[in-house]
Amino acid sequence: MSESHTPPSGSTRLNTGVAHNARVWNHWIGGRDNYEVDRQVGDHVASINPVVRDIARADRAFLGRAVTYLARERGVRQFLDIGTGLPTADNTHEIAQRIAPDSRIVYVDNDPLVLVHARTLLAGTREGATAYVEADVHDPDALLERAAGTLDVTRPVAVMMLGILNFVLDTDKAREIVRRIMASVPSGSFLVLTHPTFDPEVGGELQVPAMEFWNENATPPITARSAADITAFFEGLDLVEPGLVSCSRWHAASDSAAVVPQYGAVAVKP
Ligand SMILES: C[S@@+](CC[C@H](N)C(=O)[O-])C[C@H]1O[C@@H](n2cnc3c(N)ncnc32)[C@H](O)[C@@H]1O
Repeated sequence: MSESHTPPSGSTRLNTGVAHNARVWNHWIGGRDNYEVDRQVGDHVASINPVVRDIARADRAFLGRAVTYLARERGVRQFLDIGTGLPTADNTHEIAQRIAPDSRIVYVDNDPLVLVHARTLLAGTREGATAYVEADVHDPDALLERAAGTLDVTRPVAVMMLGILNFVLDTDKAREIVRRIMASVPSGSFLVLTHPTFDPEVGGELQVPAMEFWNENATPPITARSAADITAFFEGLDLVEPGLVSCSRWHAASDSAAVVPQYGAVAVKP
């Protein structure tokens, strides 16, 4: 296993007085790496929109199915997981390296507590490689330069952007980030994305007051997007069947999984 771990000490920048997304997300999926303020804000959001825990769990289950599909059926051996979140069960490298021990994974996040826990994300196989890069998705060039220390960007990469573009509030900027990242990887690479929505077709109505409360009480600020706006992120790529759907339904074992207001899709660069 090769390891790399970027130095700035996250612990010195931890703010335990304001709820942080990575920590609240961890609370919603049943983790313990969060503080009182995260639990209070997370529980209040759940009282406004009771499906937020279902959203977080459906998103993680989508991650598992998407990585399994890419590693097993499409032969992908490199993953760039942007907006990683706090380590939990079945992180990207564990799923990918179980199928192909030589898989190489770079994790990217900008939350100081994720940096503190990054070691867990680096315990991969001897044949493969894992790295953690502390970087902001708003600066894709810096992120790509550092990821290239571990990934061979002349070979296909699965770019994973799960629950992260919703923190890039400007849609044009979000599109530019996706374009820039996908332009830097070769044909045969994939974009894997999840994104929250207000669309009523998938039960997004209560996301409106929930996100209003979030934006007044927690960090970083979040936005939702319509299916049309999220589909536009895949411009120039070929969506894998079934296209953009509630992430709970993408390659799910059953067609009757409850929909959640979080879209998910996978696309390949032709
Ligand atoms: C909703 S969580 C999703 C975690 C994981 N991808 C998943 O789907 O379970 C979003 C993650 O994005 C990170 N994040 C938010 N804004 C970011 C930014 N500007 N740059 C890098 N990471 C960011 C947060 O710290 C958090 O860990």
